[in-house]
Amino acid sequence: MNNIMNKLKGSPRRYGAFDDHAQEYVITTPHTPAPWINYLGNNGFYGLFSHTGGGYSFWQDAKLRRLTRYRYNNIPADSGGRYFYLKQGHTIWSPGYRPANTELDSFECRHGTGYSKINSRLGAIRSELLSFVPLDTRAEVHRLRLSNEGEQPQSMQLFSFVEWCLWNADEDASNFQRNLSVGEVTVDGSLLVHHSEYRERRDHYAFFSVNQAISGFDTDRDAFLGPQGTLACPDVVCRGQSRNSVADGWSPIASHQLDIELAPGESRDLIFVLGYIEVAAADKWADNPPSASRQSTSAAVPYLAPAHALAHRFADNDAVERHVNALKHYWQQQLQGFHVASPEPLLDRMVNIWNPYQNMVTFNLSRSASYFESGIGRGMGFRDSNQDLIGVVHLEPTRARQRILDLAATQKRDGSAYHQYQPLTKQGNSDIGGNFNDDPMWLVFAVSGYVRETGDLSILAAPVAFDDQPDGDAALFDHLSASFQHVLNKLGPHQLPLIGRADWNDCLNLNCFSDDPDQSFQITENRQGDVAESVMIAGQFVLFGREYQTLCEQTGRTQAAAAAADAIAGMVRAVETHGWDGDWFLRAYDALGRPVGSRSNQEGQIFIESQGFCVMADIGLHNGKARSALDAVADRLATAHGIVVQQPAYSRYYPEYGEISSYPPGYKENAGIFCHANPWIMIAETRLGRGTKAFDYYTRIAPAYREQNDQQLHRQEPYIYAQMIAGKDAKRHGEAKNSWLTGTASWNYYAVTQFILGIRPELDGLRIDPCIPASWAGFSVIRRFRDATYHIEISNPDGLEQGVRRICVDGQWREGNLIPVLSGEVQVKIIMQAL
Ligand code: BGC
Ligand code: NOJ
Repeated sequence: MNNIMNKLKGSPRRYGAFDDHAQEYVITTPHTPAPWINYLGNNGFYGLFSHTGGGYSFWQDAKLRRLTRYRYNNIPADSGGRYFYLKQGHTIWSPGYRPANTELDSFECRHGTGYSKINSRLGAIRSELLSFVPLDTRAEVHRLRLSNEGEQPQSMQLFSFVEWCLWNADEDASNFQRNLSVGEVTVDGSLLVHHSEYRERRDHYAFFSVNQAISGFDTDRDAFLGPQGTLACPDVVCRGQSRNSVADGWSPIASHQLDIELAPGESRDLIFVLGYIEVAAADKWADNPPSASRQSTSAAVPYLAPAHALAHRFADNDAVERHVNALKHYWQQQLQGFHVASPEPLLDRMVNIWNPYQNMVTFNLSRSASYFESGIGRGMGFRDSNQDLIGVVHLEPTRARQRILDLAATQKRDGSAYHQYQPLTKQGNSDIGGNFNDDPMWLVFAVSGYVRETGDLSILAAPVAFDDQPDGDAALFDHLSASFQHVLNKLGPHQLPLIGRADWNDCLNLNCFSDDPDQSFQITENRQGDVAESVMIAGQFVLFGREYQTLCEQTGRTQAAAAAADAIAGMVRAVETHGWDGDWFLRAYDALGRPVGSRSNQEGQIFIESQGFCVMADIGLHNGKARSALDAVADRLATAHGIVVQQPAYSRYYPEYGEISSYPPGYKENAGIFCHANPWIMIAETRLGRGTKAFDYYTRIAPAYREQNDQQLHRQEPYIYAQMIAGKDAKRHGEAKNSWLTGTASWNYYAVTQFILGIRPELDGLRIDPCIPASWAGFSVIRRFRDATYHIEISNPDGLEQGVRRICVDGQWREGNLIPVLSGEVQVKIIMQAL
């Protein structure tokens, strides 16, 4: 802690610092510009946890199985979480600062991989809160350690607090005429149980427990807060005595009271468990059903047995230590999957810790639940999840395989796909529209990434029915063909792909033409859609189409491979002929057949997406178009804080372009820095061999770099990517928004590991093709790949940006740059040479 404080001395604009050794980010004040959060849980039970203990928990699905209530965009911000109050005489304080808001003598929050710690002190009392979701456990554990560091005995009352959500977060926030009457609880010793709706159709309940006898409890929010009470000063806490309230309707909560005496030097550990229980239908009524809220007087209530058992697993400190160590060990193992030592410690920090960590979170939750995604609006996005998978496939191949099959199951026979599915049910829905014509090809990207990593071609034969042909006998490969064909079946007047509702850029709505403020841009489509075309999808088709062609070849489908090659060549011709504006690639044609992203437009003359996708697909690589396009990006779109989506920003609403022109200039898709699209340009730069440039772009948005100088401006968590940074037209240029759940994570990781560091998995081995800053003398990587661990040392004595002609594998020199598939520990040496 002292080290961190020293680092921060004299730099008032900083709110925290990295602790690389502990693999933690250390926040040194509760007063950050925004809640800086972490994710607890990795496979089913999830909790969002801010640096002051705010946030919420859910089982699998943030909409359908929300355990605790959270009010987004609240005043004050981030109110609601797993809270604690200490009352010592007239002083009331919270170990996590919120909600009591009493200034503390010391405070630090350490966010680590899947756990957080808040350490604070007020007067003689030191508090250490450790919060995590143990592996394979349907519960959060919060261990509160209180120590008396003074010379006098200390006595205090401790109150806990969580507020239950009535399961469906959407209903909970809207259908008050029903939900204020459905809350039901049971109190069984220290186990406070929320079993609302359990008497009828639900087979699940939640509980909050503590591992000691309590001296009081509350389960009724009004009783706890008092009339017009606030979380900052609940009535029960102020008077220092619980009311032992048993909720009946209204808003159920769970609050324990513990009376604590600490002798000088004494410490006490209190282990709270917030758990979720499902009861098999057959066992549901093993007990008389709880007819309503009650306080149990009998010793054993059978339906609560699993809750007692789960709580009991964490009855003592040894168990907590064992589980937190297992969690840390799991992450240590995961993070060893790819480890770099480069001349850039900030790059190493991102690649070795924070970027893969964020990749796991985006893989787990897609765009469903963050402080910006309400968990109600969006589930697992089809395009999003396919991209997220690329960031974790080397760490979690088995889960990635399952995800691919789940996604493919929401695809229809014609190749189109539900834009999202609900994680609990895995059923696709059209709540945020459909007909996004880029969707199908993202599946090809995910599957080819999976096959490259694992070598598991058998996945292509895995049976997966199409959503609209549930009894059909399709295999995964048929889905890839359907994706490929979907693009070819929907070509427009210039033989370019029709855009449909939108492509990757959700807000470029070329068939929408909305003049009614009550229409959703996301689902309104007023034109036939047989004219507006997307050059981004064209580039995507060429890029991922080649992956499809390769999969055809690798599985002996020679005819399909040849047909794919023809179609791809045709698309390249269409782009070169109709998708080129003179100095850069056009973005689209609108519904009237007019170019978008062209010099002939007054605003929105050049867009990032088509430059990125066409150059990544090597279109124009040998005739100067690619270079010209990327130079135009550097001239017109690049800023010190990243590359904006387009320029000039739209200054007015264009019904023919849709939502994009509804944002003020510089925000979101209207010329914001959409971090997700930046790595496309980094990769494109590596296609031109410009490693210095590629890396320069990398540093402009990479959190560890922004953390050094721009914490105050950036405002969001500086250890993970945000979706958007305000562009140069915005008043708050450089300010980030929408942190955590963004395709930015996996794409930056993909760009930096596979194209800048250049360690690229292929079916037959690891391709080594770095494209680095000329100033680097070299770097080394330890990469797990299938059954081997490759220790790769690359030196760059001539100050090159690119160039691998031969490699030395276990002492043997070989021509080319492919390391074959081997097993065990493999030593690889490479000296970069001009090609
Ligand atoms: C946002 C997009 C987002 C979309 C989906 C739009 O309003 O600008 O970034 O992908 O909504 O909900
Ligand atoms: C965020 C969405 O999650 C993603 O799917 C989309 O491509 C970008 N916004 C750009 O609009």
